[in-house]
Amino acid sequence: MKLTSAFVVLAALSGAFAAPTTEFYANSKVQRDLGLQKIPLTRPTNYVPNIQKAIAKAIAKYDRRSFRSGGGRANATAETYDDAWITPVSIGTPPQVVKLDFDTGSSDLWVFSTEISPASDSAGHNLFDPSKSSTFANLDGYTWEIGYGDGSGASGDVGTDTVNIGGAIVKTQAIELAQSVSVEFVNDTSTDGLLGLAFDNINEVDPVKQKTFPTRLAEEGTLPSGSQLFTTAFYSQRDAEQSFWTFGYIDQDLVQASGEALRWTPVNPSRGFWEVPLTRVTVNGKATSVSGYTGVVDSGTTLLLVPEAFRDAWYKAIPGSGYDTDPDSGHISWWFPNSALDSLPEFKIELGGTLWTVQPENFIYDSRDANTTYGSLQSIDGHQAILGDVFLKSVYAVWDTENKRIGLVPKIQKKQNLQPTSTGPPP
Ligand SMILES: *[C@@H]1O[C@H](CO)[C@@H](O)[C@H](O)[C@H]1NC(C)=O
Ligand SMILES: *[C@@H]1O[C@H](CO)[C@@H](O)[C@H](O)[C@H]1NC(C)=O
Ligand SMILES: *[C@@H]1O[C@H](CO)[C@@H](O)[C@H](O)[C@H]1NC(C)=O
Repeated sequence: MKLTSAFVVLAALSGAFAAPTTEFYANSKVQRDLGLQKIPLTRPTNYVPNIQKAIAKAIAKYDRRSFRSGGGRANATAETYDDAWITPVSIGTPPQVVKLDFDTGSSDLWVFSTEISPASDSAGHNLFDPSKSSTFANLDGYTWEIGYGDGSGASGDVGTDTVNIGGAIVKTQAIELAQSVSVEFVNDTSTDGLLGLAFDNINEVDPVKQKTFPTRLAEEGTLPSGSQLFTTAFYSQRDAEQSFWTFGYIDQDLVQASGEALRWTPVNPSRGFWEVPLTRVTVNGKATSVSGYTGVVDSGTTLLLVPEAFRDAWYKAIPGSGYDTDPDSGHISWWFPNSALDSLPEFKIELGGTLWTVQPENFIYDSRDANTTYGSLQSIDGHQAILGDVFLKSVYAVWDTENKRIGLVPKIQKKQNLQPTSTGPPP
């Protein structure tokens, strides 16, 4: 990505002039008027941590987006092992409830439907049945296909219907109905489809790209100017707190708890992502800088995948750390000794002119053996880093679709749970 100097100046200014805004108070009125609610999240119970698969999944997702045209969302095989944010969503009249994976790294809303063939592929899933919804309208001749090129993926036809998420209602939302799904999606009964929250230009519907749920909330006038945003509060399974999303309003309790005002970072949506300039990290206060890099903020990626220089700065501050090489892909997975768990180096990443701390417990991905632990901080080739859930769990994030910017305050747990895990869902 080319950064114009105006963009860089804007990035610097936005950090300097962070302050509570009138919108902030206006959108709590919108919350009351529309009766908007927090949307609780659950995690899949069938998650098997696998550092190689987690890295491969993220790389496949962005390889496709950045360097290929068409094709699918991700390698569906690896997808099965994703750490997803699953949320109940009501579609149609009367409402039919499906469990969707909310993904800020893609822009399609697709769902397991009664059109799936063979019907046995839908076993264990909630299905959307368009014939039972009085508000469903078919989009004649429209199709979609999400696949990785190895035959795995999903495809189908398209219609529009009402969608209600926590009281935020779109009347005419494009719903991509699955008619065919690969075995990986069939087997993953924890989710019935996906809800994309990236920008409209990477939607996969033919012949005309369709708009995302946040875009339609704005276009239909459900959310007024100043409230065209959604927010994410993600917590580790190590913590007791309930993770949630909001649409249309900012949770003031979390902002106040941080003791700070939201600070904004401008987003460049030209490649379809929540993509921000990435310039600098500090490890134990010592800076490492890169130029020409961006970071995609992505709820659909588990790990924090950074330039090698950033990764090296952190692991080299941990005596006894090392890496394994996957013989098939050549990807490497860094680990550190368990003796370092209580004294992991402090890691801060700069966004919008502010350094954001990534809390220590989020660096623990999974046990490697009795004495070592795989880190959730790994690297990615190319100039596009991925700021996944490891980053998002340390902040409360406001995704401002109207002004194309992300607002953050810190959200660091008072008590850090630093036990390495070996089974069950990742932190
Ligand atoms: C994609 O899936 C295939 C199996 O269908 C697997 O062999 C391959 O390693 C996967 N690739 C990536 C990048 O995850
Ligand atoms: C899907 O589930 C079936 C039945 O449990 C199993 O035999 C098959 O190996 C699974 N396939 C994948 C790709 O997970
Ligand atoms: C872990 O460390 C202990 C003590 O040094 C050693 O005996 C054991 O073999 C190590 N285990 C592994 C899997 O490396």
